Amino acid sequence: MKTTAVLTCVVAATAALPNSPGKSQKLPKPTLKHGMQGDGNPFRLHQQYNDKFKARDAVHEFYTAHSKYGVEATDAMRLAITQNPLLKHKFTLLRDGAVDQQGTVAARPVRPDYDSEYVIPVQIGNPPQTVPINLDTGSADLWVFSTDTYAPDVHGQALYQPALSNMSQLMANQSWKVLYGDGSGASGIVYLDKVAVGGVSYDKQAVQVAVQVSAGISADSASSGILGLASGRANTIRPNQQMTFLDNVMTQLKEPLFTANLQKGAPGSYDFGYIDHSAYTGDIGWTNINLSTPYWQIYPSGFQVGSENFTASRWTSIVDTGTSLLMVPQNIVDDYYSKVNGSFVDKDTAMAMIPCDAELPDFHFGIEDYRGLVPGHYMNYAPSQGNNCYGGMQSSDGIPFGVIGDILLKAQFVVFNRGNMTVGFANKKTVPNTQAKATPTPM
Ligand SMILES: *[C@@H]1O[C@H](CO)[C@@H](O)[C@H](O)[C@H]1NC(C)=O
Ligand SMILES: *[C@@H]1O[C@H](CO)[C@@H](O)[C@H](O)[C@H]1NC(C)=O
Ligand SMILES: *[C@@H]1O[C@H](CO)[C@@H](O)[C@H](O)[C@H]1NC(C)=O
Ligand SMILES: *[C@@H]1O[C@H](CO)[C@@H](O)[C@H](O)[C@H]1NC(C)=O
Ligand SMILES: *[C@@H]1O[C@H](CO)[C@@H](O)[C@H](O)[C@H]1NC(C)=O
Ligand SMILES: *[C@@H]1O[C@H](CO)[C@@H](O)[C@H](O)[C@H]1NC(C)=O
Repeated sequence: MKTTAVLTCVVAATAALPNSPGKSQKLPKPTLKHGMQGDGNPFRLHQQYNDKFKARDAVHEFYTAHSKYGVEATDAMRLAITQNPLLKHKFTLLRDGAVDQQGTVAARPVRPDYDSEYVIPVQIGNPPQTVPINLDTGSADLWVFSTDTYAPDVHGQALYQPALSNMSQLMANQSWKVLYGDGSGASGIVYLDKVAVGGVSYDKQAVQVAVQVSAGISADSASSGILGLASGRANTIRPNQQMTFLDNVMTQLKEPLFTANLQKGAPGSYDFGYIDHSAYTGDIGWTNINLSTPYWQIYPSGFQVGSENFTASRWTSIVDTGTSLLMVPQNIVDDYYSKVNGSFVDKDTAMAMIPCDAELPDFHFGIEDYRGLVPGHYMNYAPSQGNNCYGGMQSSDGIPFGVIGDILLKAQFVVFNRGNMTVGFANKKTVPNTQAKATPTPM
């Protein structure tokens, strides 16, 4: 027992991190070259800690995840919104014409910012301009703040300046719009320019420049935009939909894949073009993605809470680095929190809550015969009020699929393979629970 009683909750621990690019750079093989441009060499990209990031708003994350995939609020969410003045202020109630007859109301956030504590450096233009961007496997637009962005919408973001790039070209008559139901969102025009991420670059990448950005998005000053790595079929450029950066550089990569090695309480890394076999333990469990959707959509084979038996039951889920929470069907949520003393659903937000010092059971999930482990303490998302914390697992009811977000991804090594259209999961060394509870330890 070397640690003193430290922090109980994830966000507090995260906020205490220094502004450093993280762990030492360790490439798996000495033959790998780092940072070479466009020659197809594998490379690793470290996340950078976003020190301007304010403590996470769990409620906001929950409602954003719902709005991101454009669906309706559940009854519980609707009730929460009508009863909670805070939410009423934050989220706009919308009547969807098509379902208005039944009185269905969709809830979408006024602040649809893609909060994330970490960003990666992306180089745009020639000579390169480095802007910090969030990598998001759940969308397909590469969009950035720029000198074309309406000035009052800019709040300290690093700007892409097309005029300073000798390769930038405005695409005539093309526009894009990421729209959230109440009209908030971002929209703008499109340039073609050189984009480089780590070791690969593409000369004619569609770079979506924001002209207008709604208030919520512009509040996150540390991120200049989003790099979406879902399939280009979800790209929002019109009339000529464009390919994503991943679509464009795929043939340059040594292997047509990238891996996410996110970490709890520390910057993680993304590797492009290779699998670092030293980054995980055991074997990788593979599963096919559904090719008729543009997302990394898979069908986990079941789940297990703590030491109970494994329940074989498939559910649909996308794998999304851009969502913080782990969102699963209600029956899994119910099963999980039935094993957590003191857990409850907050009527004001419809979110699952836990006592901050609760003993949380491990969560296991199936990918065919593979069993992934998420240690119990990874399931504590953020402090709320008093001794209440937000659970990291929340209901996906109201979304057409579950969302495997960062809560789970941080405990796994994940391969996004565009070569054979699979996602692979492997267990890895996870961080111990530093909660240093006063549990009597036999010594
Ligand atoms: C464009 O910029 C790059 C980097 O500064 C430079 O090497 C190149 O010569 C420039 N090309 C033209 C056509 O100006
Ligand atoms: C853009 O739109 C204008 C007006 O409709 C049209 O005259 C022009 O040819 C278009 N340009 C391209 C490249 O499509
Ligand atoms: C794949 O997704 C499509 C569209 O959502 C759906 O209709 C289809 O049933 C899915 N395939 C499988 C195997 O579930
Ligand atoms: C778990 O499975 C074993 C073997 O099938 C069975 O004997 C046991 O009763 C099950 N336990 C529970 C809690 O369902
Ligand atoms: C939950 O509470 C019950 C009843 O007080 C107790 O027996 C059990 O050990 C508790 N479980 C945990 C994991 O704390
Ligand atoms: C997909 O590719 C990976 C890595 O190239 C390989 O290990 C795996 O077996 C493949 N999976 C399937 C289902 O083809």
